[in-house]
Amino acid sequence: MTGENMHPRINSVLQRQTAGEKVEVAGWVRTRRDTGGFSFLEVNDGSCLANLQIIADKTLENYEQDVKRLTTGCSVRVEGTLQKSPAKGQAVELLASRIEVVGWADPEQYPLQKKRHSFEFLREITHLRPRTNALGAVARVRSRLSFAVHSFFQQKGFIQVHTPIITTSDCEGAGEMFQVTTARPHAGTGKGGLEEEFFGRRAGLTVSGQLQAEVYALALGNVYTFGPTFRAENSNTSRHLAEFWMIEPEMAFCDLHGNMRIAEEMLKYCLRDVMLNCPEDMDLFDRFIEKGLLAKLRNVTDLDFAHITYSEAVETLLSCGKTFEFAVQWGIDLQSEHERYLSEEVYKRPLIVTDYPAAIKPFYMRVNDDGRTVAAMDILVPGVGEIVGGSQREERYDVLESRMRAAGIDPAEYGWYLDLRRYGSAPHAGFGLGFERLVQFVTGMANIREVIPFPRTPGFAPC
Ligand code: 4AD
Ligand code: MG
Repeated sequence: MTGENMHPRINSVLQRQTAGEKVEVAGWVRTRRDTGGFSFLEVNDGSCLANLQIIADKTLENYEQDVKRLTTGCSVRVEGTLQKSPAKGQAVELLASRIEVVGWADPEQYPLQKKRHSFEFLREITHLRPRTNALGAVARVRSRLSFAVHSFFQQKGFIQVHTPIITTSDCEGAGEMFQVTTARPHAGTGKGGLEEEFFGRRAGLTVSGQLQAEVYALALGNVYTFGPTFRAENSNTSRHLAEFWMIEPEMAFCDLHGNMRIAEEMLKYCLRDVMLNCPEDMDLFDRFIEKGLLAKLRNVTDLDFAHITYSEAVETLLSCGKTFEFAVQWGIDLQSEHERYLSEEVYKRPLIVTDYPAAIKPFYMRVNDDGRTVAAMDILVPGVGEIVGGSQREERYDVLESRMRAAGIDPAEYGWYLDLRRYGSAPHAGFGLGFERLVQFVTGMANIREVIPFPRTPGFAPC
């Protein structure tokens, strides 16, 4: 027997065509089917979508006692010889010489029976759902996409920076920071005091690593951060999480155009990579989750993204003759219904909207010459809406300081950020790509809660 964790993985076993080879695998039983004299077991170990078919002959010493009692969810270790499979759709199967039951799963209790379960039901058993085909495929695709993100930036010479998770700056200024404190209410008054704050001032979980990424961009040139992000956003939608992951590149000596180019290149790179490297999982999504998914993704990799300004977007929405729930006028923040209409029905491909009104965007975005818009860009994709938000940053000290004041931010609290504009300031730009929105787009999953292993939403954080 090979040692613990040393079993070959089923994905590699299935690629071998060498009949006669002895192997040992370990995994979870998906199904058992008995015929006269032997049983077929479908075993999955999570390395790929496909199961390995095991032939368990009645001559196995524990056939009656163990093998015939195996049910969905039991874990087994199987030793045997690979043989060519007569069955369609699989090259090899494993003729077992030994089957060890590692862990039983009581069929009366185990919630994952062979039938298809709804994603809502599976969310109630977050701890078991990665054992299903769809959620297993999401996990593998998510892992590959993460790797693709790093490969893309590393190949381009970007330096990864670990920005803080606990921070004292609210980058987006939207008041959505979770507070971090050890302070307990005073025994007498029942009130907590700021003097008790662990960091000596109000701190929270980061809503974006951007401001700190700017620090490193203005020293190292091109950097990126890829980390957990938290927003106490009370929006129970299919596209919002309270904890999500964000990729934020930041580039010195770069303007909005360079920023848009990198974002488009990166999205295309990630899509191509995952279609090339996860073909079986992607085929599953294409067949069962979103019909036409692969064609949609190829459309994205093969066509240039569309570009319009915010003002043009507003004009299009006003003249399209459609009534929206949120009325459109210049100055409003585009709602998801507007974003999706533009990318799904007007442009039918990813769309970059630029130059939003300054009043609806955070203080750090660079003010345009017209004085009323900023050098912002959002990328909208069909099905998901906003997937990327970014901008050129305000590099002019005076303009930045007055934008801060206008936003009700005390410049004294952001002295370090202003210093970047006092000493060797330079034009720079960056963006944030919501990683779960990317996984959602790539897998076609309708709800973002299916594309993160342990979703956190208002009222929901089971483990
Ligand atoms: O547009 P946002 O708020 O931009 C920023 O945070 C900038 N500081 C980024 C930057 O320029 N470095 O967020 C960026 C992206 C959104 O486009 C969306 O994809 C995702 O993060 N996002 C969320 N994803 C899941 N759940 C939420 N609650 C999200 N909020 C934003
Ligand atoms: Mg945004």
